[in-house]
Amino acid sequence: MDLKVYLKDQCSIIDEALERFLPKDTVLPHILHKAMRYSVFAGGKRIRPILMMAACQAVGGDTERTIPAACAMEMIHTYSLIHDDLPSMDNDDFRRGNPTNHKIFGEAIAILAGDALLTEAFKLTSDPRHCIGCEPSGLLAVIHEIATCAGSFGMVGGQVVDMESEGRVDIDLPTVQYIHTHKTGALIKASLVAGALLGAASDQQLAAITRYGEAAGLAFQIADDILDIEGTTEEIGKDAGSDEARGKATYPAVMGLAAAREEAQSMMNEALESLRLFGEEADPLREIARYIVNRRN
Ligand code: IPE
Ligand code: IPE
Ligand code: MG
Ligand code: MG
Ligand code: MG
Repeated sequence: MDLKVYLKDQCSIIDEALERFLPKDTVLPHILHKAMRYSVFAGGKRIRPILMMAACQAVGGDTERTIPAACAMEMIHTYSLIHDDLPSMDNDDFRRGNPTNHKIFGEAIAILAGDALLTEAFKLTSDPRHCIGCEPSGLLAVIHEIATCAGSFGMVGGQVVDMESEGRVDIDLPTVQYIHTHKTGALIKASLVAGALLGAASDQQLAAITRYGEAAGLAFQIADDILDIEGTTEEIGKDAGSDEARGKATYPAVMGLAAAREEAQSMMNEALESLRLFGEEADPLREIARYIVNRRN
């Protein structure tokens, strides 16, 4: 398969659906809807929704059914980025190649745009108009998984420890592993689990996809740490070198760049290994695992 073409095609499916699902900025309150749309359409890779669709495909499901939950996941991810960039958090000026949300709309609207995206995500996933063909119990499990992975046991929990660890020299590997598996790994794992559940996966398939999600999620954040050092602001579309400047707890900071690279590779191999029981229907997941550690943005 041609990964570039695949990613581009899946990306347009998601972009088209997000355009339909997000409130128009002609609807009140204009400024809030404008701010939500500004960050969502600033040009993300859509890797979480694409992973959800790919997981559904791997277990033999109809990927069409994942589209509302996949868009919801992108909304939650975008909210996490808007808040992550705030002056009280990472204080960054660029995101997705554009000024950060608070730089354009101010902090209050940026916070509220994040809040609204998070809430809109659950409105969308639980909307009966979009649940056609989904088992109610499966959908409930999806909502529960997403909520668990987004909250204090997942992304928000990871962000708290990320903040607490800033500027400290005594950070050990288990702490940075906790940060990465939570602040980033959790939403990635949830995307995969949701895709598998919406594809009516067997217990064995679900366990394999979950393992893939955990390994790929950690690999994704290690690669992000490496790109923060090696990438340019232009390439990554966000402030390069921001981690070192803020004294962030990252894999390269704790173990050095070479070991961090090896760790990312080893997580990629673990992700590939977990797909053993699948045939070519899991090829997109295999290609994405390789892409996650070799990407340039
Ligand atoms: C950036 O995520 C934040 C992390 C969790 C590392 P992405 O690298 O997926 O960012 P976008 O969505 O493509 O902008
Ligand atoms: C990403 O961590 C975590 C979340 C956005 C939840 P980073 O702070 O490393 O992400 P970037 O590098 O700003 O995208
Ligand atoms: Mg951060
Ligand atoms: Mg950040
Ligand atoms: Mg980063």
